[in-house]
Amino acid sequence: MSTLIQLSSSAIQYQLHMAEAVSELYPTQELAQQLQQALLRQPTLIDTHLSPQDQQQLHREITRLAASWQLELAENQILVTHGITEAISLALRHLTRPGDTVAVETPVYFGLLQTLESLGLKALEIPCTPDSGLSLEALEFALRHGPAVKCLVCVPNFQNPTGALMPDEHKKRLLALARRHGVTVIEDDVFGDLYFGQQRPTPLKAWDRDGDVIYCASFTKSFAPAFRLGWLSGGRHHAALTRLRDSSSLAASSLLQRVLADALTSGEYARRSARLRQQLAQQMQQLADAVLAAFPHGTQVRRPQGGMLLWVQGPEALDSNQLLQRALQQSISFAPGVVFSAEPRFNHCLRLKFGQPRSPGLADAIATLGRLAREQLVSRVSRQRRQGLRGWPKRRQAGVPAVAPASLPARPQAGYGRRSGRDAPRPPAAQSPAPDHNHGHPARLAWRKNGSKMLSSCAAGTPGPRSLITTCTHPGCSAHDVTSIKMVLPGAL
Ligand SMILES: Cc1ncc(COP(=O)(O)O)c(C=O)c1O
Repeated sequence: MSTLIQLSSSAIQYQLHMAEAVSELYPTQELAQQLQQALLRQPTLIDTHLSPQDQQQLHREITRLAASWQLELAENQILVTHGITEAISLALRHLTRPGDTVAVETPVYFGLLQTLESLGLKALEIPCTPDSGLSLEALEFALRHGPAVKCLVCVPNFQNPTGALMPDEHKKRLLALARRHGVTVIEDDVFGDLYFGQQRPTPLKAWDRDGDVIYCASFTKSFAPAFRLGWLSGGRHHAALTRLRDSSSLAASSLLQRVLADALTSGEYARRSARLRQQLAQQMQQLADAVLAAFPHGTQVRRPQGGMLLWVQGPEALDSNQLLQRALQQSISFAPGVVFSAEPRFNHCLRLKFGQPRSPGLADAIATLGRLAREQLVSRVSRQRRQGLRGWPKRRQAGVPAVAPASLPARPQAGYGRRSGRDAPRPPAAQSPAPDHNHGHPARLAWRKNGSKMLSSCAAGTPGPRSLITTCTHPGCSAHDVTSIKMVLPGAL
């Protein structure tokens, strides 16, 4: 993640790697004036905390906003945080201890993996599809048969990176499932306000009658990214979360909170976010069209109904990390699939932001990316032909479990440099020898439903604290050796 952040301050011209919109999409001039006016009107904003009245006003406006999308909250159940990152971090610190396991979506926002790692937590990755988000069947299986899960972090509205929107019925079922298993849900609704349809999607929290969902939201995407204003509503955990926040960051900036409160009260926030949504929706279509026109045959794109991210699934043989190396030489960046899981499951995928207005330069950049991807595949085929191997790598067939290498490679650290082994010529996937994934024992099919399969298997070696740990069906296997659950679901990534 730090490498991606460093790319943001580099001279790369077409930066499509972070989940952010360019500054032209925000009303910077108006915000500058409002900041100045607020400070002139109320100079104490520079040296004191927000007054109780001002705080009450902000909390009241946030509850009004939430009520407009069916989320009824009390004013004293709002805690303003430093972005949603602080809100999620507080929730995790409150609910877990180092060594605990946290269920997350896969592919997952890489910042969350980093937060989990910094807190010494393990991630149990549950498949998520661009169609409807987190697989409830997979989650149920993992909760029944996997290690004890302390909590679940999920992004039901416009998930990062897939853009998936979870249907309301799934949200209700997810809540019931979590409740049955005593798992607290941390809901990350960072993109909820950036919807392209008629209505903002309802958060999971709206159906939470037990106060067990810790709802986290943010104004960083929809209002002013660098203001870093997020918030949470912690249900029955709220008091404990407030104490934790007091002992960590104490309070958010008074001046910035004041300007946000005014924008909410005057209706400016609603007008600006509507404009932003309209622009993002248009840019999403343009980017998706450009990708489909330029990328190799077999590339799949699911147009999201909100947010600012486009998840591109290339042909299986595409190596998006290698593609990034070539793209950087052309002054183009994106987030390669490898950063969205602790395991190398999404190497053929990449994430592009559509927070940048269309321009001839951007169109050329996408065309260049597509050309580089096609060239990579062509050169791979030529290499294979030279090596005397016939045939194009076949796409995984439905029902055949995904396999990970026997010793799982570490995730790339800084720089996405060339990595020996991965960059070296390799035979087509279909002809690779099957890795010994199960201590030499055949993996056992543990679960089958509606034509979906889930495989419980064990693998030697642990890839680090992010690895997921789940059931092993082999009697001689100790829990410490079990590092992988392979899930194959129809349409799963
Ligand atoms: C899913 C998800 N959660 C959290 C964050 C962090 O948001 P914030 O900037 O409000 O801390 C991001 C940022 O892109 C994100 O995509």
